[in-house]
Amino acid sequence: MSRIEIDYAKCVKDRICIRACPYRLFLDSGDGSPILHENAGELCIECGHCLAVCPVGAISLNGVAQESLKERVPSLEPSPESVEQLFTFRRAIRAYKTKPVERELLARLVEITRYAPTAVNGQSVHWTIVDSKDELRRLTGLVAAFMRENNIMPMVAEAWDNGVDLLLRDAPTLAVAHAATTALTPQIDCAVAVATLELAAAANGLGACWAGSIAGAAQASAAVRELLQLPEDHNVYASLMLGYPKFQYNWRPERIPARITWV
Ligand SMILES: Cc1cc2nc3c(=O)[nH]c(=O)nc-3n(C[C@H](O)[C@H](O)[C@H](O)COP(=O)(O)O)c2cc1C
Ligand code: SF4
Repeated sequence: MSRIEIDYAKCVKDRICIRACPYRLFLDSGDGSPILHENAGELCIECGHCLAVCPVGAISLNGVAQESLKERVPSLEPSPESVEQLFTFRRAIRAYKTKPVERELLARLVEITRYAPTAVNGQSVHWTIVDSKDELRRLTGLVAAFMRENNIMPMVAEAWDNGVDLLLRDAPTLAVAHAATTALTPQIDCAVAVATLELAAAANGLGACWAGSIAGAAQASAAVRELLQLPEDHNVYASLMLGYPKFQYNWRPERIPARITWV
């Protein structure tokens, strides 16, 4: 049950909240002054759009008013060119320096992912971050064993037996996104969060690569689940290796042209 409050002393009747609320929980009383839908408390998904968009801070949600929110800093807006460079020069990095990634930096990057979109603002994503060398080796061994037993890409387990890590690429960190299987779209929420983490990592000088083999192994192997400390009702939906890149990619390889159907 959400508590939405309107400070009518501040309201300038601009109807912005009426248009911005995804569920139309603010109704126009006639003169632009909003009144709340009778079931607003139950229907609200706590997206915060109303308090983020109101130009005069007339709305509060669960006792939180606009004054206590972080405010956009116009001078920090990235240029379209820098966004394009960040997004299109991102590459799957598979060679890392041995230097560990600072936990403070990892925590800051994961903070950023909290603002990625999730279905009905469900915010279903949880993280397990493995940065212990021993646990990473143990995890890689478990995943390699799972792949061998299930005849999935046998060369990967073979390489592991010969001291070559084609699974986690000797990355110093693995970030694992997991969610309750009962969430509305756990797979999409986790994938979006991992994609966000990857770009945030790139902006901070880190390299990253999706680790596609973890999800399947975590679903089937009790040992993998235990190592990742997964709650019983959770599955792994996406994972990302992270580390300082050994090499720099200064040229952008071509991709096939965008296929767009304009209707
Ligand atoms: C998989 C997925 C499906 C979504 N579907 C809809 C939708 O059908 N209609 C809509 O208005 N918003 C949709 N959204 C947007 C979410 O409701 C929104 O991301 C969430 O409320 C958080 O708000 P924010 O993205 O403004 O931070 C969807 C988001 C995701 C990730
Ligand atoms: S928090 Fe989102 S859903 Fe709830 S009233 Fe505000 S805009 Fe509407």
